Amino acid sequence: MGMTDRYDRVIVLTGASGGIGQALAREFAGPGTYLALIARDEARLEPVMTDIRAQGAEGEVAAIDIRDREKLQAYLAELDTRHPVDLVIANAGVTAGLGPNRTRESDADSDRQIDVNYRGVVNTVSGIVDALQKRRRGQIVLVASLAGMRALPDMPSYSATKAAIIAYGHSLRGWLKPFGVSVTIICPGFVTTPMSARHKGAKPFEMPADKAATLMRRAIERKRAFYAFPFLLAFGIRLQNLLPPILGDLFLGGFEAEIEDDPRYGNPKDT
Ligand SMILES: NC(=O)c1ccc[n+]([C@@H]2O[C@H](COP(=O)([O-])OP(=O)(O)OC[C@H]3O[C@@H](n4cnc5c(N)ncnc54)[C@H](OP(=O)(O)O)[C@@H]3O)[C@@H](O)[C@H]2O)c1
Repeated sequence: MGMTDRYDRVIVLTGASGGIGQALAREFAGPGTYLALIARDEARLEPVMTDIRAQGAEGEVAAIDIRDREKLQAYLAELDTRHPVDLVIANAGVTAGLGPNRTRESDADSDRQIDVNYRGVVNTVSGIVDALQKRRRGQIVLVASLAGMRALPDMPSYSATKAAIIAYGHSLRGWLKPFGVSVTIICPGFVTTPMSARHKGAKPFEMPADKAATLMRRAIERKRAFYAFPFLLAFGIRLQNLLPPILGDLFLGGFEAEIEDDPRYGNPKDT
């Protein structure tokens, strides 16, 4: 129970209008839960809010670009005064890959992934962490990727931003543990979402978003430090990380992919 609050649990969730975020909202929704759902597109957040209200949860939507640090952090600070936050799930993210005919990744794609997947996550955490540290409670969840544990050959900046998130999470965990704030890093494999629909290539062990959300909720509730799934793919990646890189490259050879342009970002790929 938040100290001045009538809810059992107040959750901030970014990327709540997308595949995994939407599934997570539904997974956590229930009586006693207050969800603040963040993404840029309010029209796509509203139906998610309607669904979770039908499940007995309460909440609000906030149309914010997580790259807009000032707006995001002002919102989170104000939200926390109304509903002290217990759990923040930094889930919003974007993908891109190589250019046409296996040419280099565009500068715009590279920048956008750094701005959303890394800076946006840092903006999210920084907007709420002071409050959690002061209350000496709460949990921060970072949604990284298996691609951050071993880079995919065709997704250079994506893999790099997810590796950065993993490192950032390990650091946060060490810093915040003495303050009673836990940190959970999650590395999903292939999950069926609009993002993965643009991923044209092998997607071994691909799983539905609702199943992924159930596994993620379990890991979050157990306050796991690090959770990578599905187990077999995560295990394979851990094994190949013990091999010389040249052998790991053979393992990754089967993961060639083309990433279609993200329709939610401008074309030409400038934003
Ligand atoms: N699907 C997979 O196979 C897979 C695997 C490993 C990791 N992941 C990670 O899981 C997370 C969710 O992925 P997903 O598959 O659910 O992707 P998705 O279907 O593309 O959804 C992405 C969500 O992020 C939001 N978003 C994008 N840019 C944003 C911005 N600048 N500010 C605020 N919100 C923004 C989108 O809403 P708006 O466009 O309205 O802003 C949407 O709600 C990502 O971090 C992704 O990297 C996914």
